[in-house]
Amino acid sequence: MILNAPNPFRPGAGRVPPELTGRSNVLADYTAVLGSVASSGEGERPWIISGLRGVGKTVLLNQCGRDAIDAGWIVIKLEASSSQPLAVQLAKEIYVALRKAATASEKVRKAFKGTFAVFRSFQIKIDPNGAYGFGFDVQPAAGKADSGQLSTDLAEMLESLGLAARAAGTGVLLAIDELQEAPTADLEAMNVALHQLGQDLRPVPLMFLGTGLPSLPAVLAKASSYAERMYLYQTLDVLSPEDTKEALLAPSQRERVTWSTGALDMVQDVSGGYPYFVQACGKHVWDVAASRTIDVDDARIGIGRARDEVDAGLYKSRWERATSAQQEFMKAMAQDNDAPSLVSEIAARLGRAQTAISAPRQSLIQSGLVYTPRRGYLAFTVPGMADYINRHGH
Ligand SMILES: Nc1ncnc2c1ncn2[C@@H]1O[C@H](COP(=O)(O)OP(=O)(O)OP(=O)(O)O)[C@@H](O)[C@H]1O
Ligand SMILES: [Mg+2]
Repeated sequence: MILNAPNPFRPGAGRVPPELTGRSNVLADYTAVLGSVASSGEGERPWIISGLRGVGKTVLLNQCGRDAIDAGWIVIKLEASSSQPLAVQLAKEIYVALRKAATASEKVRKAFKGTFAVFRSFQIKIDPNGAYGFGFDVQPAAGKADSGQLSTDLAEMLESLGLAARAAGTGVLLAIDELQEAPTADLEAMNVALHQLGQDLRPVPLMFLGTGLPSLPAVLAKASSYAERMYLYQTLDVLSPEDTKEALLAPSQRERVTWSTGALDMVQDVSGGYPYFVQACGKHVWDVAASRTIDVDDARIGIGRARDEVDAGLYKSRWERATSAQQEFMKAMAQDNDAPSLVSEIAARLGRAQTAISAPRQSLIQSGLVYTPRRGYLAFTVPGMADYINRHGH
């Protein structure tokens, strides 16, 4: 514990890091798109950002959401889940956004007037029993977003939102996290809706941003074949050595705390730039440090504690939830460490035919623990999973 210096580090899902490093390129591109969409009043290609567990997707999506709010945009943000239809979640979040529009400036309220009625039509089909009051009477818009076909209704709903935003001189951000979790039929409807909007002579000023695991591009392509060409795909990587050091140094400097070169190198090396682990190391090293200069001993002890925390929070439960067939399968994969494993090689290691291992393979993909980085290969979605299995998975 460093006297009078609060610990700035934030390990944990979606927690805003004290310094968002290594994301300036993607954020600069994003800001440029926001600017051009708002000034032209026309939409851009939808974005998909995928990456491994804990690499910083949620944090980035939330930052994009804040930037859009700061720019005066209408923001609809949600986290997809396999247990809830995407359409119902969308209805709930569009409702929240519209309630805000209803209390905004006169110009915004006027622009969105017709959208309330379209929303009513949309909502009556999607979630007829939900509570969606506005404090004033809103009748459904006949013939709009009420066909009962989700793709058509969603396209009409989003178009109405976009047209209103254009009239108000702004844009709409639709941001969905964990998109790979959404039911396939819902993803298909969403793809169709976005595809349809993109084909307009003058697409409405809507920006779509979807984030999820590395399996997401394949999941979208499975829902609609043209998804491969429709979205602009980007991957989010672990932090470079320089960005890792910056993530540790910048917040420390603000508290007038410095790191010895050896301590900094050690954390950078051990963390591999994995953002969740970087935050965990920062936090624990800080907690064990006794003075304002963090040394190698602080780093060594702190890294050990960080590893225990990450083991307990990230790997242990995933390992223990797996069936014994899945565990055997993952152990065979872990021999390749974090590198992708050839499926034929996994089968050989298990002494089985490839067809005989398809059940654990499918179930591990289904549960989001492994994915197919390229044909014939499998890899873990959680960085460091192989290392954990090699240390603990006996
Ligand atoms: N660019 C960054 N620089 C420093 N720390 C970061 C960065 N991005 C994320 N982090 C930290 O990494 C951790 C994980 O971030 P986040 O929850 O956004 O990851 P994620 O990719 O959404 O993970 P999951 O796949 O489990 O949802 C958090 O503790 C966050 O503070
Ligand atoms: Mg996340």
